[in-house]
Amino acid sequence: ARNVIIDCDPGIDDSLALLLALNSPELNVVGITIVCGNVPTHIGAENALKVLALADRLDIPVYMGANRPLVVSYTSAQDTHGDDGLGNSHLPAVTKVHAAQNAGAFIEQTLIEDPTVSILALGPLTNIAEALQRDASLFNQVDRFVLMGGNYRSHGNCSPVAEYNFWCDPDAAKVVFDLMPVPIEMVGLDVTRKIVLTPSLLAYVKAINAEMGDFIEKITRFYFDFHWQYERVIGCVINDPLAVAVMIDPEILGGFAAYTTVVATDDVARGQSIVDDHEFWHRPANSQIMTDVDVNTFWRLFLTRVAGATDP
Ligand code: BDR
Ligand code: CA
Repeated sequence: ARNVIIDCDPGIDDSLALLLALNSPELNVVGITIVCGNVPTHIGAENALKVLALADRLDIPVYMGANRPLVVSYTSAQDTHGDDGLGNSHLPAVTKVHAAQNAGAFIEQTLIEDPTVSILALGPLTNIAEALQRDASLFNQVDRFVLMGGNYRSHGNCSPVAEYNFWCDPDAAKVVFDLMPVPIEMVGLDVTRKIVLTPSLLAYVKAINAEMGDFIEKITRFYFDFHWQYERVIGCVINDPLAVAVMIDPEILGGFAAYTTVVATDDVARGQSIVDDHEFWHRPANSQIMTDVDVNTFWRLFLTRVAGATDP
């Protein structure tokens, strides 16, 4: 199995992503680090523990990281994810274990002991940027670095041009594209927008796995309403699980290599990802930009792993 650190901000779709990772034998989750994003860091950590409890994996450590972006002030996404980050489901808190402090120290220590560990980044990139700024060479041998964030041809989801994870901490996103020594696999809105959890998919999960179906229904009800109200989508787009899926099976996504950077200035273009797909800048490619997704293979993987479907 591939050792992986998951840096995230749970968050409804982060929680679904964690469930996919925890139920996939290809991945060995060595630790979960929390960044402020959808919710403040301490709430994200509580939610990670709730998901670990559901998956019966409280042996996996959770660490709290950055409480605010590098430069700009912090804006949560509680309008989308609920005040509790899990769609206002207000599930009971886990009390027998606690999240530890210092996600940054955990990331560094893990990279020293296991230099080829892979990293999945599902939230704003503050924790990763801070670690890179301290010592980018620690990332030299990282086997794969996959992030959910950004957008290429697709429009933004919190401004006309920007995706939330990059918008929330644009400076951190820029630092990651500037300093990451290994290729960045960018799973952006171009591909994640195609992953819609519909009422019929949810009904299917409920029919074959009542506990999981109940959990997913509780955390997504609010998100369903939000999508109908703002995007006229029936169901909800779940972004983060697709980044886990490509870590499990690289064939699920296709794209192209390019030099990419992110606008860090706090103006109308804040957080915009700029992909140099015509080599205007003659810079070496630092990223793989995902543009194609095999939606059916994704859902087969998700339903098999998370709901225990045998023949989806
Ligand atoms: C990203 O922002 C968050 O709201 C989601 O968890 C996802 O990581 C989508 O733009
Ligand atoms: Ca997220």
